[in-house]
Amino acid sequence: MADLTAPTANWVDPHVMMMDPYDTYEKLRAESPVTWVPAVNKYLITGYPECHSVELDQTVFSARVSGSGATMIRALGENPMLRKDDPEHAVERQAINPTLRPRSVTQVWAPIFDRNADRFLAALSDAGPDKADLNRDFAAPLASQNLIDMLGLPGVDTTTMSRWSHALIAGTGNLLDDARIWDAADTARTEIDELLADLIPHYAQHPDHSITSALVASGLPHRTAAANVKLTIAGGMNEPQHMVTNMVWALDNHPDQRRHVQTDPSSWTAVFDETARWLSPIGMYPRETTCETVLGGIALPAGAPLGVVVAAANRDPRHVADHPELFDIHRPKLPHLAFGSGVHLCAGHWAAKSSIGQIAVPKLFDAFPTLRVDHSRETQWNGWVFRGLTTLPITWDD
Ligand code: HEM
Repeated sequence: MADLTAPTANWVDPHVMMMDPYDTYEKLRAESPVTWVPAVNKYLITGYPECHSVELDQTVFSARVSGSGATMIRALGENPMLRKDDPEHAVERQAINPTLRPRSVTQVWAPIFDRNADRFLAALSDAGPDKADLNRDFAAPLASQNLIDMLGLPGVDTTTMSRWSHALIAGTGNLLDDARIWDAADTARTEIDELLADLIPHYAQHPDHSITSALVASGLPHRTAAANVKLTIAGGMNEPQHMVTNMVWALDNHPDQRRHVQTDPSSWTAVFDETARWLSPIGMYPRETTCETVLGGIALPAGAPLGVVVAAANRDPRHVADHPELFDIHRPKLPHLAFGSGVHLCAGHWAAKSSIGQIAVPKLFDAFPTLRVDHSRETQWNGWVFRGLTTLPITWDD
C-alpha cells in the first residue's frame, strides 16, 4: 500500500524565506506537493493542482481557520468574508461585487486611478533622479489613495491609511501576541470604527459607488460592514503597491521585454499577469480541513492547518511547463493563482489590473522613458506570506 504520510521538512527556515522564499518552495515542491513544516506549524501546499483543488472544495478546506482566525477577529472586530465559507461568505461578497466589476472599474474608478497616478508622478518628479524611491514616493501613496477613494473614506490621508493597513495586517498575523503589535492594531481599529460611526449613517442616506456605501446598502449589520471595510484596508493596499514595484523591477531586469512593452503598449496586460505569477504579492494564505482527507497523495487529519502557497504553485512545472522560474511575458497565456481562485477569488482583481497594469505603470514609463533601478543605492525585499520590495531606488535621465 502506498505511504500517504506527509514528509516533514525540518530544514525550512522562515528567516531565509523572509529574504527569498523561492529556493525553499522549489525544494519543498520537488519533495512533495504537501509537506508538514514544523517551523510554520502548517502543511504547506506548494503544487498547483493541489492549491487549486483546495480552493474548489470549501466543505473540506474551510476558510474558517483557528489560529489566524482568532487574531483576525481581534484585529478587525469580527470575522470578515475572507474567514467565512458559503453561504455566509456569499452574502457579504455579493454586497461588494457590483462596485468592483469591470464595468464599474472602467466607468467609475479608472478616471480616479488616472488622476491619482498623475498626482504621484508629480511627487516622484519632485523627489528627483538622485533621491527617488519608487515605493515611498509613488507605489505606496498611490495604492493608499486609490483605496481611500474606492472605500469612500473622505478626509483620510495616505499616511494614515498606510498606518492603518500595516497595523491591521500585523494584528491579523499576531499569533505570538506581541503587545506592541496589538497596541497599534487596536488604535487603528478604534480610529476606523470612529470614522465609520459617522460614515455608515451618511451612506445610508447618501449612497454612492464606494465599497463602504455598497456594504451599508446591502443591509448587513454595521459591525459586519465595518469588519469588511477593515479587511479591505488591510488587504487592498500592500498588494497593489508591491505590484507596481515588482513590475518595474522585473522589467528593469529584463531589458528586451522592457523594450518590447515600451514599443507595444498592448503587452502591458501580459506584463501585469506574468509579474503576478512570477512574484506573487500574496505568497501564502491559510485554510483548515474539516475532516480527514487525501490531497496530492498525502493523508491529512481533520483540523489540519494548511498554508496554500500560491507563490510556489505559480512556478510549478506541472502547470507552467517551460522554465517556470523565468519571467517571460511572451509565454502562452495560462491561469495563475496570484489572486486566489474559487469563491474567495480576489474581489479587487479587476481594480488592481486597471489601476496598476493599465494605468500606473504604463504612465510611469511614459513619463520617465529612461527610468531604471539605481544600483548605487540599496534595494530591499521583504516577506514571504506577503512579499514585495520595501525600497526600490530609481533614477532617470533629466
Ligand atoms: C495586486 C493586487 C492584489 C492581490 C495580489 C490580491 C490577492 C488576493 C488574494 C490571493 C485573495 C484570496 C485570499 C484567500 O483566499 O484567503 C484576495 C482576496 C480579497 N481581496 Fe485582493 N488582492 C489584490 C488587490 C485587492 C484590492 C485592490 C482590493 C480592494 C479594492 C482587494 C480586496 C480583496 C477582498 C475583499 C478579498 C476577499 C474576497 C473574499 O473573501 O471573497 N484586493 N486578494
